[in-house]
Amino acid sequence: HSLLILNGPNLNLLGTRQPEVYGAETLEMLENSCIQYAQKSGVQAQCLQSNHEGVLLDAIHDARGKHAGIVLNAGAYTHTSVALMDAIYSVEIPTVEVHLSNIHAREAFRHQSYIARAAIGQICGFGPQGYLMAIDALIQKLSQSSD
Ligand code: DQA
Repeated sequence: HSLLILNGPNLNLLGTRQPEVYGAETLEMLENSCIQYAQKSGVQAQCLQSNHEGVLLDAIHDARGKHAGIVLNAGAYTHTSVALMDAIYSVEIPTVEVHLSNIHAREAFRHQSYIARAAIGQICGFGPQGYLMAIDALIQKLSQSSD
């Protein structure tokens, strides 16, 4: 199995971006820990970050036939992008939505997630650990569907 770890806008700035909200870990550290964590379960993880909605859409489309699951932190596009929601519906690849911060404890405009409608579930508020929880959830989901 292979998983796609997809990060959206501004997440390239992790480590320096509002560290009081998003923590001190850089995107590179986060991606490496995902790759290593998945590897322990014999799963390959491929990571991609983009600030561009269209690039994220293409990555979701290209995941067909390549990746068995997607971990998606769509950043602010979470709250705005019907297109990303439709892409997840379209490819029918199990997707877990992740946020570093607890979006429900923040501004009202962050409470709404288009991604959540199409995802199998949402993990938020656990920092980088949430990505590992999402990897676990997908691995468990995939093992159930291959039983
Ligand atoms: C975020 C939460 C979003 O509201 C915000 O726009 C981000 C990061 C998070 O990981 O907590 O860019 O997705």
